[in-house]
Amino acid sequence: FKVLVINGPNLNMLGKREPEIYGAQSLTNIIDDLTLQALPLRIELSHLQSNAEHLLIEKIHQAHNEIDFIVINPAAFTHTSIAIRDALLSVDIPYIEVHLSNVHARESFRHHSYLSDKAIGVICGLGADGYKYALASAYRWLTDHKS
Ligand code: DQA
Repeated sequence: FKVLVINGPNLNMLGKREPEIYGAQSLTNIIDDLTLQALPLRIELSHLQSNAEHLLIEKIHQAHNEIDFIVINPAAFTHTSIAIRDALLSVDIPYIEVHLSNVHARESFRHHSYLSDKAIGVICGLGADGYKYALASAYRWLTDHKS
């Protein structure tokens, strides 16, 4: 299986950025852990972090017919981007939405997501472990639906 992990704006700052909210682990560290987790599952993992909305959208388009599952933390674009929602729907690839923080316990503008209603599932508030649970769930979903 091929799984694409996408991280949106400011997540390149993980570890340095508001660590009391987002934790001390860097994004490189998180992706390294996911790569290790993917190995015995024979998942081919690819990753993009970008601060630019159009690059995230183009990556999603390129995933069409290439990628089996997407794990996405759209960061602030969660709450603003109809375009990322439309991109995900246009390629028809199942996805899990991840947030490190519990967005529902924060400012009200973080309570709404343009992606959640179309996601296979949403994980938030569990820190970097959320990505691990997402990858494990993606694997489970793919073995149930694609083999
Ligand atoms: C986030 C939550 C968003 O509200 C915020 O804009 C982020 C990160 C999270 O992982 O908790 O940048 O997606």
